Amino acid sequence: MISFSNVNYSIGGKQILKNVSFTVPNGESRIIMGHSGSGKSTILRLILGLICPDSGSIMVDNLDICGAREKEKREIRKRIGMVFQDGALFDSLTVGENVGFYLFEHTKMKIDEIEKKVREMLGFVGLSDEIIDRLPEELSGGMQRRVAIGRALLSTDPKIMLYDEPTTGLDPTATTNVIALINRLAEVKHVTSIVVTHQIADAFEMADKFIIIDSGEVAFDGNLTELRQSREPRVVEFLEPFRETIANVRKIDFI
Ligand SMILES: Nc1ncnc2c1ncn2[C@@H]1O[C@H](COP(=O)(O)OP(=O)(O)O)[C@@H](O)[C@H]1O
Ligand SMILES: [Mg+2]
Repeated sequence: MISFSNVNYSIGGKQILKNVSFTVPNGESRIIMGHSGSGKSTILRLILGLICPDSGSIMVDNLDICGAREKEKREIRKRIGMVFQDGALFDSLTVGENVGFYLFEHTKMKIDEIEKKVREMLGFVGLSDEIIDRLPEELSGGMQRRVAIGRALLSTDPKIMLYDEPTTGLDPTATTNVIALINRLAEVKHVTSIVVTHQIADAFEMADKFIIIDSGEVAFDGNLTELRQSREPRVVEFLEPFRETIANVRKIDFI
């Protein structure tokens, strides 16, 4: 479970988050939408305990992440998979070395065992294991994003997955594939997921519960039906360009 309770956060006197409260129960997914600069990535950094709020509390898996000791924080972070916008792969390492990186670095597992796990993981994220010896630069953007998701999964066996703008910069086919993978992960592994995006059209295919952040405040927290019915002016303004998209939403299945 992830829970924010009246969280305020500021940098250099500028208030970035204002009284933010929301709860994501175990196994559920939330999409956090909002214009660029509204505070979405800041929410992810708070969940990871990289920064702490000025006031309010943040509970991650029953632990007050900012009150926790370093050791406890590390334990929690081990259970959180994080996928960044650019994929953030090590560009001088092969696909196999990227996906198996944590196992190589932090376990005594034999190379053959790691390779077996890496090949299975590539299959899980919908990639052929023939790419295991390729370098990231030889892959398309969509494939790199899937490798990054595979690496996050093998690093942590996560209970929580955080995705920051996972479909930004991808073509429509790659976008569909990455969304399908995120949905599959939520369904098969029952992870608690938070997906941050400003790409509204993609958002509706990834979950059925949404949070809209507007200038650091929660402008909306609810399901698709409630979103369609909302008359809250900030929500109406934010969704205006997407009225037709919202009317025709369907969730994408893994293919
Ligand atoms: N380290 C920082 N120093 C100063 N301002 C920051 C810093 N990090 C974020 N901000 C500001 O906080 C606001 C929210 O940023 P962010 O959470 O990255 O937004 P989003 O992810 O929604 O685009 C923005 O106005 C940004 O300029
Ligand atoms: Mg951001």
